[in-house]
Amino acid sequence: MAAITNLREAFLDELRDIYHAEKQLLKALPKLAKSASDAELRTAVDDHLAETENQVSRLEQVFELVGEKPETKTCAGMAGIIEEGSDALDAESGPVLDAVIIASAQRAEHYEIAAYGTVAAWAEGLGYTDAAELLRETLDEEKSADETLTGLAEAGINAAAGGPAPTAGRARAAGRS
Ligand SMILES: [Fe+2]
Repeated sequence: MAAITNLREAFLDELRDIYHAEKQLLKALPKLAKSASDAELRTAVDDHLAETENQVSRLEQVFELVGEKPETKTCAGMAGIIEEGSDALDAESGPVLDAVIIASAQRAEHYEIAAYGTVAAWAEGLGYTDAAELLRETLDEEKSADETLTGLAEAGINAAAGGPAPTAGRARAAGRS
């Protein structure tokens, strides 16, 4: 790949990366939903799958707005997050599985929040106001998906997995040792 020498090229590179990240999630989320035993968690993951489909089309609109064809670039970050999540899913069973699904989904959300925060700010800086607005819409959806997952963990999934009560420390409540 040619060296990136300006912010517009860096922006396009990040767009292609997150476009690939979203496409990977489209494939991974159904497995997470299917593995969830808590009905609310399953619904939350399914809802986010529908949102993700919309986020993919929003990215395609962004490419169009900046005069580029939608293209992906391998997103090794999301591939790693999905692979780790899938290993954890295979290793766990019973009530702790739902807590592990939340942990894995939140890693993906945080990756996306970082990426969308960057591309939204860069789009704004480059004068792509409409593109920036679309990217911020997705950023808000990712943040709210993340909050929903935290809410479900604290509302009982961690406790069901044998973790401490919701008022105890967040790190232990996330089910990690
Ligand atoms: Fe997303």
